[in-house]
Amino acid sequence: MTLDELCTTFRPRIEALLDRVLPAADQNPARLHEAMRYSVLGGGKRIRPLLVYAAGQALDAHPDLLDAPAAAIELMHAFSLVHDDLPAMDNDDLRRGRPTTHRQFDEATAILAADALQPLAFQVLASHPPLAAHPQIQIQLSNLLADACGSTGMTGGQAIDMSSEGRRLDRAALEHMYHLKTGRLLAASVLSAACCRPDTGQPVKDALERFATAVGLAFQIRDDILDVEGNTAQIGKQQGSDQARGKATYPALLGMDNSRKRVDELLREAREALATFGSGADSLRELAAYIVLRKA
Ligand code: IPE
Ligand code: IPE
Ligand code: MG
Ligand code: MG
Ligand code: MG
Repeated sequence: MTLDELCTTFRPRIEALLDRVLPAADQNPARLHEAMRYSVLGGGKRIRPLLVYAAGQALDAHPDLLDAPAAAIELMHAFSLVHDDLPAMDNDDLRRGRPTTHRQFDEATAILAADALQPLAFQVLASHPPLAAHPQIQIQLSNLLADACGSTGMTGGQAIDMSSEGRRLDRAALEHMYHLKTGRLLAASVLSAACCRPDTGQPVKDALERFATAVGLAFQIRDDILDVEGNTAQIGKQQGSDQARGKATYPALLGMDNSRKRVDELLREAREALATFGSGADSLRELAAYIVLRKA
């Protein structure tokens, strides 16, 4: 499958599932449910669900089993974005070309909407019908997601990000922060597909983890490059936000040239990690290149 085919097949599929699992906007408390839907639907590249499906293709996993992890991971991602944009964190007004959730609603509603997206993610894993016959897979997926998002994963990375504002980190500390705040959820996306193919051997899982770790790091460096040289309309976020906050970023600490070089190097590493995979991994390979070269 090409990347185009992957997007055409699976983007509408994940949009429909997210729409279905989110509470209706008129259900009580309606403002909360409206804010949850606003935060998840209507935009977003859906890179993490696409990684789940593309890795699933590489492993020949059944797409019906991949739907729940794809949706759960995107719900956790949406929660992280709502909190990331709050005044207490990055204080951003624009996300996906629209007002951030706390600007569209209010801060309390945004905090609560994000709070509610987290349990919804785990509920999807526990209750999506195709996984009901596979309790072992459900447990593994839940554990993977919790570990990727908790205090030693994304949330820990976000804590380091906040405490690094205005400070100089060395390359290793910076990459560690990126790995936690962004890389762990991307890796969980790829590894979720392996959970859905329980006969996947350890060497294959290791290769997928190497792939995803390289892609995750490159993804965040690319995000930081776009914050410097992208334009607000195209990235759907305020250009220059990182510099305004004094964020510790790759471009700020190591320069744009080094940032670009590192992204190229990581894309090579990601490709090498998949060297033993056949043509089933083509969409995963293409997705890595897209993630690293994207303009938005
Ligand atoms: C933005 O993620 C947050 C980062 C980890 C850099 P995305 O660039 O995947 O955001 P959406 O979902 O497409 O809006
Ligand atoms: C966010 O990194 C990482 C998250 C875990 C949400 P950024 O703060 O750079 O993401 P954007 O640029 O606001 O999307
Ligand atoms: Mg941030
Ligand atoms: Mg931010
Ligand atoms: Mg950013």
